[in-house]
Amino acid sequence: ADPIKTELLQLYQAAATLFQHVLLNTEAGEEALAYAQQRQLDETQLKTFQVGYAPDQDNLLLRFFQEKKVDFQLLRQSGLFSEREDGSLFDRFRDRLMFPIRDARGQVIAFSGRLLHPIAQLPKYLNSPETKLFNKRDVLFNLDLARPEIRRHKQVVLFEGFMDVIAAYRAGIQYGVASMGTSLTNEQLHQLQRLTGHLIVCYDGDLPGLTATNRVITLLRQDQRFQLSIVTLPEQLDPDEYIQKYQAESFRKKIEESQLTATAFRLNYLRQGKKLDHEQDKIAYTEAALQELLTVHSTIERDVYLHQLSQTLNLSYDVLVGQLQRLLANATRQRDQTLQTQLTTVPTVQQP
Ligand code: UTP
Ligand code: MN
Ligand code: MN
Ligand code: MN
Ligand code: MN
Repeated sequence: ADPIKTELLQLYQAAATLFQHVLLNTEAGEEALAYAQQRQLDETQLKTFQVGYAPDQDNLLLRFFQEKKVDFQLLRQSGLFSEREDGSLFDRFRDRLMFPIRDARGQVIAFSGRLLHPIAQLPKYLNSPETKLFNKRDVLFNLDLARPEIRRHKQVVLFEGFMDVIAAYRAGIQYGVASMGTSLTNEQLHQLQRLTGHLIVCYDGDLPGLTATNRVITLLRQDQRFQLSIVTLPEQLDPDEYIQKYQAESFRKKIEESQLTATAFRLNYLRQGKKLDHEQDKIAYTEAALQELLTVHSTIERDVYLHQLSQTLNLSYDVLVGQLQRLLANATRQRDQTLQTQLTTVPTVQQP
């Protein structure tokens, strides 16, 4: 192993321990602790997730490592500090509730710090930069703790944020991970794929969350690696807010029972902002919905949605089936033509 990595891992673990000590046992951490408690983070959870607090005192972390005579170049590479013009360092995280980000083996490799009082000019969550340890694309928050639970339950729930994973964990859903924001990468999917074939997407109920859910569906439609279920939350709530408002039991039910298929989600999603009692909207929606059904492989599944659409749109089932069949025939013809063109344009191989 790279010796620098080993040393960086030690720095990160030491920092996590220091931040947690500040949060739990010091006066400087009192306000942050009150904030954490107000967000329902009890001591067990704070310890499970190693949550801490980086105070706004000048350079607590820097002084801590300097007293331990940690090499300056190592500190520079750590991502725990920012650098001034003159090359001197200062603490990167100040006045933030600190969430350690762990790798799949449970080692702390980065932090994300949340401002206690977010303001417009600063990011609400500040992450560690990319380092020798941390490549954001590769990491799913909480994969280490969730792994055995994912295997046991044969499914994984994907959340957007740290607080969502932690709130769900408290509510008894311990097979949750977070993509940390809304863009899921192939590297992240690859790690999940090794554990389960069933992915439940439970992003925030707001517009960015819905848009991101739609993107995950598009990303996964092509490759059939996962069976997808979608949980949508009402009133633009995110999972953490939903649990606060409607309690753990209701959330567990939502995850365990009421799951939309990707197609059902998409049919709702396409309907956003459309008034189905207006002809133009109704026609546009019907066409978009049928296009969507083209991507459904099972004829049974297709038929279920055709019946639903016929009801919601108050259109004859036969008309919808007829139109879907025409679209299917067109799609097949186009695919054949493309294939034909590709075949005729294949360059002839020259004999050496
Ligand atoms: P949200 O804005 O939904 O935040 O971002 P949240 O998780 O609900 O946070 P709370 O409840 O206000 O504390 C979802 C996730 O996107 C990433 C974080 O991982 C966050 O949990 N994010 C968000 C960032 O990395 N940076 C940001 O500035 C904001
Ligand atoms: Mn369990
Ligand atoms: Mn959000
Ligand atoms: Mn959120
Ligand atoms: Mn939230």
